[in-house]
Amino acid sequence: MISVKTTQLTKKFGSFTAVDAVDLEVYKGEIFGFLGANGAGKSTMIRMLCGLLMPSSGEALIDGLDIYKESELIKKRIGYMSQKFSLYNDLTVAENIEFYGGVYSLDKKLIRSKKEEIAVSLNLKEEMKRLTRDVPVGLKQRLALACAMLHDPKIIFLDEPTSGVDPKVRKDFWNIIYDLSEHGKTVFVTTHFMEEAEYCHRLSIMQDGRIIALDSPENMKAIHNEKTIQDVFIKLIKRQNNDEI
Ligand SMILES: Nc1ncnc2c1ncn2[C@@H]1O[C@H](COP(=O)(O)OP(=O)(O)O)[C@@H](O)[C@H]1O
Ligand SMILES: [Mg+2]
Repeated sequence: MISVKTTQLTKKFGSFTAVDAVDLEVYKGEIFGFLGANGAGKSTMIRMLCGLLMPSSGEALIDGLDIYKESELIKKRIGYMSQKFSLYNDLTVAENIEFYGGVYSLDKKLIRSKKEEIAVSLNLKEEMKRLTRDVPVGLKQRLALACAMLHDPKIIFLDEPTSGVDPKVRKDFWNIIYDLSEHGKTVFVTTHFMEEAEYCHRLSIMQDGRIIALDSPENMKAIHNEKTIQDVFIKLIKRQNNDEI
């Protein structure tokens, strides 16, 4: 089953093309990685898929729904965690959950049970009344993910969810991503960490708005005869730059 399908999806800012005719398919339950340097177009791509940014041209279907015509329905089926954690620092942890529950139109009873569920699963009973700014960054990140998933979406878009956190916290966060995937959720994740790219089921490498490679990390390494994704990445970027000269 296809969760995300794009056809020639393009975003221009004036005469500059940030996302350039991208074709891809992401399958249900898959962890699909978007790897690229700063400015490659990763966030722009995610923003279009979440309905936050209008494409310049091309098509995209999210869970079979058209991003131009069915964006309201799409919002109910997706979760989005932005590059900068999307929690309010000056609200308490509990208030953040209540706020996001309201955004997703959950009723009071459901919000209460979600709060309890999150308190248990993240082991943060003590922290519920604390201001979010005072909560450790790893916990804050998991809380941001929990808030983005209060409405139990099928597809989760994570835009560099692990930037600014240490390797241990990153690894813990990836365990959550695996868990989501095992429960049938589709995870679309951007990163510029090479080791994280290895954790994805399939990976696309983006440069200057274009997908320059798309495959499983294992296949990519085999095809390019390299030991790590970092080596594949360097090789592809070099080749691309030489082609352009
Ligand atoms: N609203 C905007 N207006 C003009 N240029 C933008 C806008 N948003 C992003 N860009 C440009 O598009 C390119 C891709 O940006 P972005 O998608 O944020 O890249 P990434 O997330 O891969 O770092 C960058 O050159 C960026 O400066
Ligand atoms: Mg970005």
